[in-house]
Amino acid sequence: MKSSTFLFFFLFSFIFFSSIFATFAASNGFKPADSLLLNCGSPDDDTDSDGRKWSGESALNGKILAATNSSTATAMYQDPSLPSTVPYMTARLFTSESTYKFPVSENGRHWIRLHFYPVSYNGLNPDDAYFSVTTADGVTLLKNFSASLTAKALTQAYIVKEFSVGPSADGALSLTFTPSNEHNNSYGFINGVEIISMPDIFGEPPTMVGYSDQTIDIDGSAMQTMFRLNVGGQYIPAGNDSQLSRTWYDDSPYLYGAGLGVTTEAEKGLKIDYPSDLPVYMAPVDVYRTARSMGPDPNINKNFNLTWVFQIDGNFTYVVRLHFCEIVMQKVNQRVFDIFVNNQTAQAAADVIAWTSAEGVPTYKDYAVFVADTAGDDQLWVALHPNVAARPEYMNAILNGLEVFKMSDSTGNLAGPNPEPSLMMIEAELEAPAGFEDKSGKKASVIGGAAGGAAAAGLFFAVCIVVYRRKKKVERDGSAGASGWLPLYGNSHTSASKSTISGRSTASSHLSSLAASGLCRHFSLPEIKQGTRNFDDSLVIGVGGFGKVYKGVVDGSTKVAIKRSNPSSEQGVHEFQTEIEMLSKLRHKHLVSLIGYCEEDDEMILVYDYMAYGTLREHLYKTNKPPLSWKQRLEICIGAARGLHYLHTGAKYTIIHRDVKTTNILLDENFVAKVSDFGLSKTGPMMNQTHVSTVVKGSFGYLDPEYFRRQQLTDKSDVYSFGVVLFEVLCARPALNPSLPKEQVSLADWALSNQRKGTLGDIIDPLLKGKINPECLKKFAETAEKCLSDQGVERPPMGDVLWNLEFCLQLEEAAEGGKPVDMDVSENSTGAGRGWQGSHIPSGSIGGSEMSGESDESSNEVFSQLVHPRGR
Ligand SMILES: *[C@@H]1O[C@H](CO)[C@@H](O)[C@H](O)[C@H]1NC(C)=O
Ligand SMILES: *[C@@H]1O[C@H](CO)[C@@H](O)[C@H](O)[C@H]1NC(C)=O
Ligand SMILES: *[C@@H]1O[C@H](CO)[C@@H](O)[C@H](O)[C@H]1NC(C)=O
Ligand SMILES: *[C@@H]1O[C@H](CO)[C@@H](O)[C@H](O)[C@H]1NC(C)=O
Ligand SMILES: *[C@@H]1O[C@H](CO)[C@@H](O)[C@H](O)[C@H]1NC(C)=O
Ligand SMILES: *[C@@H]1O[C@H](CO)[C@@H](O)[C@H](O)[C@H]1NC(C)=O
Ligand SMILES: *[C@@H]1O[C@H](CO)[C@@H](O)[C@H](O)[C@H]1NC(C)=O
Repeated sequence: MKSSTFLFFFLFSFIFFSSIFATFAASNGFKPADSLLLNCGSPDDDTDSDGRKWSGESALNGKILAATNSSTATAMYQDPSLPSTVPYMTARLFTSESTYKFPVSENGRHWIRLHFYPVSYNGLNPDDAYFSVTTADGVTLLKNFSASLTAKALTQAYIVKEFSVGPSADGALSLTFTPSNEHNNSYGFINGVEIISMPDIFGEPPTMVGYSDQTIDIDGSAMQTMFRLNVGGQYIPAGNDSQLSRTWYDDSPYLYGAGLGVTTEAEKGLKIDYPSDLPVYMAPVDVYRTARSMGPDPNINKNFNLTWVFQIDGNFTYVVRLHFCEIVMQKVNQRVFDIFVNNQTAQAAADVIAWTSAEGVPTYKDYAVFVADTAGDDQLWVALHPNVAARPEYMNAILNGLEVFKMSDSTGNLAGPNPEPSLMMIEAELEAPAGFEDKSGKKASVIGGAAGGAAAAGLFFAVCIVVYRRKKKVERDGSAGASGWLPLYGNSHTSASKSTISGRSTASSHLSSLAASGLCRHFSLPEIKQGTRNFDDSLVIGVGGFGKVYKGVVDGSTKVAIKRSNPSSEQGVHEFQTEIEMLSKLRHKHLVSLIGYCEEDDEMILVYDYMAYGTLREHLYKTNKPPLSWKQRLEICIGAARGLHYLHTGAKYTIIHRDVKTTNILLDENFVAKVSDFGLSKTGPMMNQTHVSTVVKGSFGYLDPEYFRRQQLTDKSDVYSFGVVLFEVLCARPALNPSLPKEQVSLADWALSNQRKGTLGDIIDPLLKGKINPECLKKFAETAEKCLSDQGVERPPMGDVLWNLEFCLQLEEAAEGGKPVDMDVSENSTGAGRGWQGSHIPSGSIGGSEMSGESDESSNEVFSQLVHPRGR
């Protein structure tokens, strides 16, 4: 979870900036009195790749720089992900306290945007730059700031920070850069500064959450923009914003859990009609035209909160601005919901139509909340839930836009600590491929260079590995609701020792409480019998330790996988209960969804999403299915890694899968990988324990040797098994093959010995030979090798494995396409540049399954949160 602390760093991608202040047609438009873009370190005016004009320092006649111990420099390396050489390739360096003094009008607030490109200047080490930035009015914008650490943590080559400061008394705005004296060789630097007048968008004092009668005055405060999201919509570049040159990002990476809701866009004919008291610059039309709501099923909606989670700095007050515009409902009391900020009711019974009186009329609400400084990650939660008491016509909620601003504290400070890059990134940096190193002259830029390459088209890299991240095109999952395959206990030997059978009555009462809570549906035995033609053997699609798995139909046409326990099964009530409990609480794109269960007449039956393309294994070997391309395999591994990463870190407690193998990775009709079979899962170490002692379970060939030796389970046991999966995918052979010569029986041993001898190339799937970019293969093999480290502590956490696999995909795509494939902003607007989306493969293009393309709308109801009603 450490890596998630990076989230609070708000970045801008800069590419689509264009001539923003060219025209101001709107009646209540705003024309900034001051608009200065300073290209620091450069004497000349220049234009960036979007045609925005940046002033050189000399044009200002030296008037604006009030100090001396500074020098100018040109970056020693141009990262390919930089959107423009201006202003990033030149910098001003400060070795002692130095001040920029900008002449500004005395009225109104100003945006201050600071641009940093941490790379080597004049041979200086970018890691040595620690500095603070303060204003003459005593506001601390940054303190002990390391642009290098921040950029690394974000895998971004450059950083933009946005602040808003109050009017200055003397017609000047000063920015003082002070190198930290706590670090040796410290210096400060800056590449670009924007000083732009802004209207007072913080007009009305917001209500303090939890104190409905108290407001907080923010007039005198400096603010920092932490997040600015076009909820349910797309990335909006600064040039498309209404006059304030703000950048709006996709909200999906911040959604919590699997309750993604649905995105909605206003019908073409609906005009967004700004009321007279709402200036058009508050948010652009695109923000109000798109929204996220909860989904069509009232019963599901009643049982979850549509939640966004943000990593922020503690000990600050935040203003949460919610933008609303009803684009579906027309009447009062059709959609009434509560708004929670940090688990406190910020607004009860919000009804957008009641506020605005009509569809298509935007409004916004501000709520202020103080976030105490707690140990660990400080988070800001924003949640919506239907207000049941109001008996609205629809149990639903809506949000169109969301901004989070940090208020300066009583000392005028806005600065928080630097984020911590993950260990894996530090390692990856040390091991960077030689090619990258030479160009940069400095390894520090490697991460930015490689990962940031995808950002070249202006993608916004929110964060590295974040559990709350969700892919934009979730709609794809909609069809997954219709089809699905099942958790299948594979053909490998499952060494499950007999489990203790917990009391039956406890189990069933527990389950009925789950069903009552709406997390999991109860099916009657007749429903199941009808759906499987009384357990007709012709419908069996798998047999495992638990029993048989049938392809079935419920609710008339919903295809499901039905897992029926075998009375003599090694896996008993306990596993049954575990699986229901785990799965019903876990919803994730890369986990197989449990729809319901049936427990009657001594039957223990689980009903799952049907996965059309079956197990990963059946696409790898001993198959007549068309072979998967290397890129497909990488994407599948990434999906599975993401599912496991979610299990390990996304839920309240670490969940250890314990039986990771290629038959437990299932594929939907878009080849999106989903991890299945939590029957053996254990809730992992909590707090101070580092392992769970347990009876050895799992599948031979995938078993963590340490787990076997010490019978101690950690999440690193899953990492080991996943390492075997990676080699299985690469070599297309079983984890154990007793018919082979002794040294080859175990894939883990055989692959490791070849990897160490440098002969791995000889044992990879012949179908892949010559088709993998060598850099990519190297990285992939190293990742798999690390996963197979003998000691758990030496294995990387799943998040780092995921990161490395994405890096592999990036290398592969760069090699295949000449440039990264994920550069399309519209496709992929949120830091998905390293291949966050599950799959590019169009459904059915690979053929091979009679089930493909049969998705069926009605079946989507159960997983409505994954479906879009009328969508983008
Ligand atoms: C410039 O740096 C030198 C040495 O660090 C220092 O003595 C001097 O005071 C500095 N000058 C200014 C104007 O800060
Ligand atoms: C700075 O360098 C000196 C001498 O090399 C060393 O003793 C000191 O520990 C260093 N200080 C820091 C903060 O790294
Ligand atoms: C920005 O505006 C231009 C012109 O109106 C439009 O063509 C473009 O698609 C917009 N871009 C986005 C990402 O909305
Ligand atoms: C809000 O509640 C959730 C679930 O109970 C909890 O995980 C989270 O930490 C809480 N958030 C805050 C900011 O208190
Ligand atoms: C929604 O969030 C509120 C505030 O944290 C909490 O009290 C409530 O139980 C949540 N409801 C659900 C269904 O999670
Ligand atoms: C919180 O901020 C205040 C200033 O507003 C400061 O005095 C106090 O020391 C801070 N507390 C912590 C725990 O950092
Ligand atoms: C400055 O930042 C570095 C890196 O995050 C950190 O190790 C150090 O403790 C910080 N120093 C202060 C005084 O906050």
